[in-house]
Amino acid sequence: MDSLGLFALLTLALSQWTAASSVEEITWTYSGLIGQSEWSEHFPDCGGTSQSPVDVITTQTKYEPSLIPVTPLGYSQHGNQPFTLSNNGHTVIVELPEWMGFRGLPWFFTAAQLHLHWGNGGPGNGGSEHTINGRSADAELHVVHYNSELYTNMSAAMTQKDGLAVFGILIETGDETNPAFNNILNHMSRVRYADQKAFIPAFDVQSLFPEDLGRYYRYNGSLTTPPCYQSVIWTVFHERVQISKAQLLKLETMLYSSKAASAASMLLQDNYRVTQPLNHRVVFASFSADSGTELSSGEVTAIVIGAMCGCVGLAVIVRFIVKTVRFFKVLHLETVVVNRINESGKSKEKNQELVLNTSLEPERKEELSPDSARPTRLSQAVCSSQTDAKILSV
Ligand SMILES: *[C@@H]1O[C@H](CO)[C@@H](O)[C@H](O)[C@H]1NC(C)=O
Ligand SMILES: *[C@@H]1O[C@H](CO)[C@@H](O)[C@H](O)[C@H]1NC(C)=O
Repeated sequence: MDSLGLFALLTLALSQWTAASSVEEITWTYSGLIGQSEWSEHFPDCGGTSQSPVDVITTQTKYEPSLIPVTPLGYSQHGNQPFTLSNNGHTVIVELPEWMGFRGLPWFFTAAQLHLHWGNGGPGNGGSEHTINGRSADAELHVVHYNSELYTNMSAAMTQKDGLAVFGILIETGDETNPAFNNILNHMSRVRYADQKAFIPAFDVQSLFPEDLGRYYRYNGSLTTPPCYQSVIWTVFHERVQISKAQLLKLETMLYSSKAASAASMLLQDNYRVTQPLNHRVVFASFSADSGTELSSGEVTAIVIGAMCGCVGLAVIVRFIVKTVRFFKVLHLETVVVNRINESGKSKEKNQELVLNTSLEPERKEELSPDSARPTRLSQAVCSSQTDAKILSV
């Protein structure tokens, strides 16, 4: 009797609490009373057939050559206005300015915010939401965008098909510190508790991305947290980014899912959803999964541009060589001409001398005949003219 009464009371209390909390602001969690398996009871979309994240089985992806590289715009132009960092009790969020966005889908998508998902630092435990061939990465970065061509703002877009586009960037740990992530990690101590906010210096958001934005998986899915709207075009990049083990540890141990005023502090850990069934969906790949040597369209573009630059370079070099050869030819010709001119000048002089001599000869003959003393005068005259010439040439 007593235990039955207690049970009835508990049920009543629980149902009242559930009713009160389902109005709005439901305190859902990843595990526990309103853990992942209960989400769909409060948020019907979480029980839908196009949910995220998913396990990408690479051999079952479909290579789609029309998937062009993602073109980020404005992520590096962070400006001077500080960014807002916050802890919403489920993750750490950086709000992004509206001039950031990307091309590569049929519509322009404007950036809204980025956030992270991680594990608990335990050995062999995952932390990423998407998995590749059943394997988790250590953490995952999500960059959330909304379709600003079709919808006026994030809240209008998030319930609509093709309303959102999210980048999924898998994070692995290695030896090296990734300075880009310190722009977030170094300020997390200011938002340790749920509902805290802080201004942080603006930074180059693109430095968080992998370099290769040409190879990715694409599928239609959902928000990975309640209310799980099935409005997301997912882009999960093939290339992963690396942070150090110390950086991952900071992410896993710095934040609380509980509020500052709360009596019981709860670490914010394991904030990743388990993978959801693909159902009828196909995961497309922008690159061929079977061969690692297959080139992404980004690489093809790079090669084509490289080849074009090479050709232009070669043309410039050939032109230079031809010009140089021509220049030397002309130079040679000019030298020859100059030499010829010099030679012809010399011969002219000779001719003039000859002319002089011949012109003198009759005179000499004339002079010779009347007087024998005349030649001496002539030779004197020649000598004086030669000295004159010498004086002139000096
Ligand atoms: C978003 O846009 C809708 C109309 O498109 C408007 O009713 C709503 O107030 C806007 N929300 C915000 C947060 O600006
Ligand atoms: C997503 O859904 C739309 C509309 O149903 C479809 O046209 C598109 O091909 C789908 N995209 C992917 C990657 O499955």
